Amino acid sequence: MKVTVVGAGNVGATCANVLAHKEIANEIVLLDIKEGFAEGKALDIWETSPINLYDSRTVGSTNDYSKTANSDVVVITSGLPRKPGMSRDDLIATNAGIVKMVTENVVKHSPNAKIICVSNPLDVMTYCTYLTANIDPSRVFGMAGVLDTARYRSFLAEELNISPKDIQAVLMGGHGDTMVPLPSYTTVGGIPVTELISTEKLNEIIERTKFGGGEIVKLLGTSAWYAPGAAAAQMVEAIVRDQKRIFPVCAWLRGEYGMNDIYLGVPVILGKNGIEKIIELDLNEEEKAMLEESAVAVRGVMGVLDTMNANV
Ligand code: NAI
Ligand code: 2OP
Repeated sequence: MKVTVVGAGNVGATCANVLAHKEIANEIVLLDIKEGFAEGKALDIWETSPINLYDSRTVGSTNDYSKTANSDVVVITSGLPRKPGMSRDDLIATNAGIVKMVTENVVKHSPNAKIICVSNPLDVMTYCTYLTANIDPSRVFGMAGVLDTARYRSFLAEELNISPKDIQAVLMGGHGDTMVPLPSYTTVGGIPVTELISTEKLNEIIERTKFGGGEIVKLLGTSAWYAPGAAAAQMVEAIVRDQKRIFPVCAWLRGEYGMNDIYLGVPVILGKNGIEKIIELDLNEEEKAMLEESAVAVRGVMGVLDTMNANV
């Protein structure tokens, strides 16, 4: 299996490192626009192989997409973080330009790839990838829910002093503060979480999860990469190993949850064909209202991209 990671920055290089270390793909191509950057990161990762005892090959490329040809999965992490003085619309315009150019090259060289978008703002960059790729949306989706759910599960594990392995949870909606945590679908070793934690504590954890990205930015001055890189790699693994895992994924909705033509985080089955099924949960009225609110926020940002596209 061949996997390409576009963007050899913090998230992209971490993702490639996890893919190599866990032998998720036997060929990993790391591509960046910065001269020599991807080659350097790829070489450094490859040099860990005798230490970590794996034989996956990681190679780098400076914007040469011929090296990515016939990838089975492509992860797009290229994009700028928001800089001081930059408006949200400026960020969308800049990153949409990058994501569009990258996607055109990806599709040209790997027409059958499954494409996972990671660049922010996530939901709208996934939409941008889809508009550019012009392929079935079962093959174009975004990573956010795996990360957000991991944050939620790790906070719960800390609070309950139990293994994070035993916490099952799902979060829906957009990647932002309107994300929709679902305590009714959170279990700990099969036990509903509400039997183990007070409502007050659970609400605190939910709030912390919603602002989990910001918490890291405050501490580091830049956004997270270990958990995002590992989350993207876990999605790649589900595809290349045809694991049929259930993950919250930013997916194109066509009638599910009563919504159409929107990229939104929902639980899906991920396997060799990409999104093999979108799972429709039976949400209560409050959860439905929260999902609607999240959809309104995401549509607002998608509208900014549509307006930009209409004006070019
Ligand atoms: P970074 O700045 O460390 O890396 C981005 C890389 O993209 C840089 O190396 C840059 O040279 C490269 N790049 C820029 N334009 C390119 C082009 N046209 N072609 C190829 N490469 C290009 O940033 P980091 O921390 O790795 O974050 C990457 C993106 O992921 C950001 O948009 C960030 O906001 C987003 N992110 C999303 C998360 C999610 O949950 N979806 C979580 C964390 C980050
Ligand atoms: C995160 O959630 C900023 O999207 C990035 O860490």
